[in-house]
Amino acid sequence: MSESVQLIYNNETFEFPLVEGTENEKGIDIKTLRAQTGLVTLDPGFKNSGSCKSEVTYLNGEKGELKYRGYSIEDLADGADFLEVAYLLIFGSLPTKAQLDKFQDDINKEALVDEDLKVILKSFPRSAHPMGALASLTAALTAFNPESVDVDSDEDMYNAIVAIMAKFPIICAWTHRKVKGLPLNYYDCNLSYVDNIAQMMFRLPNREYVANPIVKNALNKLLILHADHEQNCSTSTVRIVGSSHAGLFASISAGISALWGPLHGGANQAVLEMLEAIDADGGDTKKYMAKAKDKSDPFRLMGFGHRVYKNFDPRARIIKKSADEVLNDLGINDPILEVAKGLEQEALNDAYFVDRKLYPNVDFYSGIIYRALGIPTEMFTVMFALGRLPGWIAQWREMRKNNEPIGRPRQIFTGNTNLPFQSLDQR
Ligand code: SDX
Repeated sequence: MSESVQLIYNNETFEFPLVEGTENEKGIDIKTLRAQTGLVTLDPGFKNSGSCKSEVTYLNGEKGELKYRGYSIEDLADGADFLEVAYLLIFGSLPTKAQLDKFQDDINKEALVDEDLKVILKSFPRSAHPMGALASLTAALTAFNPESVDVDSDEDMYNAIVAIMAKFPIICAWTHRKVKGLPLNYYDCNLSYVDNIAQMMFRLPNREYVANPIVKNALNKLLILHADHEQNCSTSTVRIVGSSHAGLFASISAGISALWGPLHGGANQAVLEMLEAIDADGGDTKKYMAKAKDKSDPFRLMGFGHRVYKNFDPRARIIKKSADEVLNDLGINDPILEVAKGLEQEALNDAYFVDRKLYPNVDFYSGIIYRALGIPTEMFTVMFALGRLPGWIAQWREMRKNNEPIGRPRQIFTGNTNLPFQSLDQR
């Protein structure tokens, strides 16, 4: 007999079943709540509400654990290639060599975008934020790949997935090249997926391009660490847009817009700008700590806090270690890293942050590595999107294969009621 909970309302007792996951999480199944009681729940920001069952990613905020399809993020970050992790997230198992080779080959075949997309890119001002250009170009991909919209068959869905996996890194790199006024590079089918990201961003036409293994390894690790994170804001956006049966590219475009916000993926850019401001301010971390704690000041310590992690974000722990290694390997001494470490130590010993369980999150140190790799600040969130793409795809595919209903939350109305209409001459 499965467990249940009881709700007593209007002197009547109602029973609702408990749902238990494979990591022993429990939730109240309230599918019949309104039918039985006439009531709805109210939960701004969905802090207590589960939107779906999922087999893709598990995270434990109290323990600071993160697993993709049952594999720990530590093991994957240390030993896997990003394309392997993308396959794992999307299709549910680590690929055999034959499966990975086929996935890579299928991506290679699709690794071109219509030349007319350059016309759309050209129409943007160079000052346009790359995330805005990326969201637009991703939605525009639908126009050039109309077959990616109706994906009722497994084959159609696979083809749409391969197409976005292939074309997304190209348009991401193009948004960078646009800002810098540089010619656009093409995907090279002789290189790996991650090597292509680097060469499309950094290859210059007037000199030989030499791949840097330090850059490739750091990029690979960062992309894996950003690949999925259960029902975060942008993934929930991808799911709800996709639940209307909008195409995969349109759903991903919506996710890009959600990720752009400074409270979400845009935080990695905001962190670097904050650290640079502190550094320019003589490293006065105490001033910024005070601002972060001042309720009358909208300033927040960017890169700190998390809706789920009430312990260290396991990704932040890995990225912090990697930052030291990458800067050392590249022979870079970046004072911003010391400012970040100083700020972290202060916050971790400050009652305001300790009481609210505010720890560094994935965005706190990632920008320091991106900067060391030669990636400009305005591109940091595009790099986040590049990593998150397979997670968005995996969650979207799961939602469609589970035939989830269209997402349509309820509300509690608190506005005016029964107002008599007055014609214009009476108002
Ligand atoms: C990502 O969800 C995911 O999984 C996201 C992500 C992913 O991989 O997809 O992990 C990626 O988005 C990481 C988060 C990046 N954002 C930031 O670093 C921006 C700074 N952080 C905050 O804005 C905040 O911590 C959030 C948005 C991340 C979480 O906000 P919540 O869960 O809604 O918490 P809250 O705003 O209700 O804060 C609780 C308390 C409040 O104080 P009190 O009202 O209790 O007095 O903590 C305070 C907040 O004022 N607080 C902060 C703070 N974060 C929370 N105070 C100062 N600085 C901060 N950073």
